[in-house]
Amino acid sequence: MSADFDPLNSQLLFKLPRCLHKKSGWTGHTPFAMFLVELLRPRVLVELGTQRGVSYLAFCHAVEELKLETRCSAVDTWKGDAHAGNYDESIYRELAGRHHRYESFSSLLRMTFDEALPKVADASVDLLHIDGLHFYEAVKKDFDTWRPKLSDRGVVLFHDTVELARDFGVHQLWRELSPNFPSFNFEHGHGLGVLAVGPRPPAALLEFLAAANARPQEMRSLFSTLGRRVLLEAEQEWFSRQTPLVRALKGIKFKPL
Ligand SMILES: C[S@@+](CC[C@H](N)C(=O)[O-])C[C@H]1O[C@@H](n2cnc3c(N)ncnc32)[C@H](O)[C@@H]1O
Repeated sequence: MSADFDPLNSQLLFKLPRCLHKKSGWTGHTPFAMFLVELLRPRVLVELGTQRGVSYLAFCHAVEELKLETRCSAVDTWKGDAHAGNYDESIYRELAGRHHRYESFSSLLRMTFDEALPKVADASVDLLHIDGLHFYEAVKKDFDTWRPKLSDRGVVLFHDTVELARDFGVHQLWRELSPNFPSFNFEHGHGLGVLAVGPRPPAALLEFLAAANARPQEMRSLFSTLGRRVLLEAEQEWFSRQTPLVRALKGIKFKPL
């Protein structure tokens, strides 16, 4: 890895996210989400596509932990789409409960991505996470319509960059965009692409990208291992919330034969 990038300097690399979800494709990326907030120290962060908030609550957790002055917004209809499926009000209600502690710096914008455009100033967004509908045309439209919102140090995160099932088209857009900007693609958890779109990316991000592109397999192993740990913690937390019978079984000490 590059001499300038030392993961041990990070305050958040080994921090577990407060909200654990064992079923989400995003869970394994939460260590990178928190680390990226630390690298970028964004002034404005916007997420397109939040659902249960696995990614968004990890961003907010990092902002709180680092005491940043970041303004965060999550945009979603909280109704679902062709890939996420249609879901009921309980998803929004549960997220709103978990989000409550972040309300001093974060807003849940319950509307379409297009409806949210006038609510965000042009050239203001330092970190944009695009995770809405995953057809090629949809994700390209999200990128094209939100690109004017990016600041001169704006970074875009794309989820599902290696997902080929169900007509997902993020991989195609990633192939088109990534050669044109400093970038790196993680391959675990359906893929997560980091694209430094603004002409003046933060030095810390460039150092990270140089290190990642110099030794891509090692960087992928580092973050997939950290992600796997979060997934295991999420499974353990889920298991411990199961029925009293399961809890009782967990408590039984088995004698070796
Ligand atoms: C894959 S989920 C987001 C997952 C989330 N980032 C996580 O960490 O688990 C996609 C979400 O995007 C929302 N969505 C898709 N297209 C949208 C649009 N045009 N406007 C608002 N919300 C949209 C859906 O309601 C769905 O909740």
